[in-house]
Amino acid sequence: MTSNRSFTLVSRPQGELADSDLALHEAPIVAPAKGQIQVRTTCISLDPTNRIWMSDVPQYMPPIAIGEVVRALGVAVVEQSAHPDFAVGDRVVGLPGWATHPTMDPAAAAFQKLPAGLDMSDAKVLGLLGTTSGMTAYFGLLDVLEPTAGQTLVVDAAAGSVGSLVGQIAKLHGCRVVGIAGGPRKVQYLTETLGLDAGIDYKNEDVGAALDRHCPDGIDLCFENVGGPIFDEILMRMNNHGRVSLCGLISGYNAAGIERVPGPYAFGMILMRRLRVQGFIILDYAPRFAEATATLLEWGQQGKLVTLEDVRTGFDQLPESLRQLLRGEKHGKMVLVP
Ligand SMILES: NC(=O)c1ccc[n+]([C@@H]2O[C@H](COP(=O)([O-])OP(=O)(O)OC[C@H]3O[C@@H](n4cnc5c(N)ncnc54)[C@H](OP(=O)(O)O)[C@@H]3O)[C@@H](O)[C@H]2O)c1
Repeated sequence: MTSNRSFTLVSRPQGELADSDLALHEAPIVAPAKGQIQVRTTCISLDPTNRIWMSDVPQYMPPIAIGEVVRALGVAVVEQSAHPDFAVGDRVVGLPGWATHPTMDPAAAAFQKLPAGLDMSDAKVLGLLGTTSGMTAYFGLLDVLEPTAGQTLVVDAAAGSVGSLVGQIAKLHGCRVVGIAGGPRKVQYLTETLGLDAGIDYKNEDVGAALDRHCPDGIDLCFENVGGPIFDEILMRMNNHGRVSLCGLISGYNAAGIERVPGPYAFGMILMRRLRVQGFIILDYAPRFAEATATLLEWGQQGKLVTLEDVRTGFDQLPESLRQLLRGEKHGKMVLVP
């Protein structure tokens, strides 16, 4: 009989996640008690927030407790059910965590059934319709920034899971879009595949000078994924009454405490340029996920959105994959097939 393999957190990472921060377990699969289901995890989403959840910093959900299975989004198939709403064979998306065959309360794991007829790979589900991909891009852009045609929008981590969809959806709404990403391959992807107006290689270019070149009339909208010096360069070039959707601050996630990362130094620009800066957490939009799913599916079917998934394999590779995600050593939405 197959066993359940899982990673638990044994210590909070100091800086980059270390292998010694986790323990790998192998145990018999547990039959579900009344109200539970047992699933086989078929695809795990690697997300910057995995690293946030490992830290004991102020955050939007409780941190992963020491000794707990690492929390993670993913797709799974129901293998045993003692819950009236779930049947063997149902395909679900939710929080199976870093576990191959977990037994869980489906509500606690936020499991939602995928439509039976959905003809889409697990990786694509996580890359286009995932909470941390399409949902975040859709609401963080359309609800928070309310883009209108002709506005100039800058997005960083632009070749990644969220950023690549933000750039494309902003183009669909008539914006001029400048993306920032690391390395020539990703910058080429921004303009040639995603159809953005310009790309900036933050690893090899002076970001401020490049923003001056590509945004001669300033920046109206910023979709912020990174923080740090890149965010300062953007803030310095915002137009009066510009808006910032603060989605993420990945440049600080390996720091000891995100609340203590210095900056933004250009904070005064919020006053001088009368900016509206709004943080958002995608979970607040859960009641409206069906709306975004329908629209993203339609745009996807019409060929208006391109997604790229970087699919890793091997359950043991989860820690190294997360390290690589934080370093940008991947192309597209990173997922792992256990
Ligand atoms: N608010 C929410 O509800 C919500 C939901 C989902 C995600 N997020 C946030 O959205 C952001 C993007 O997440 P994602 O899943 O789409 O990840 P991703 O973009 O697919 O991957 C992370 C990327 O971040 C970039 N990066 C890492 N460190 C950097 C640094 N020091 N300077 C510049 N770029 C750096 C790298 O870009 P390059 O490859 O170009 O170097 C890396 O590929 C994260 O901050 C995440 O926390 C927020």
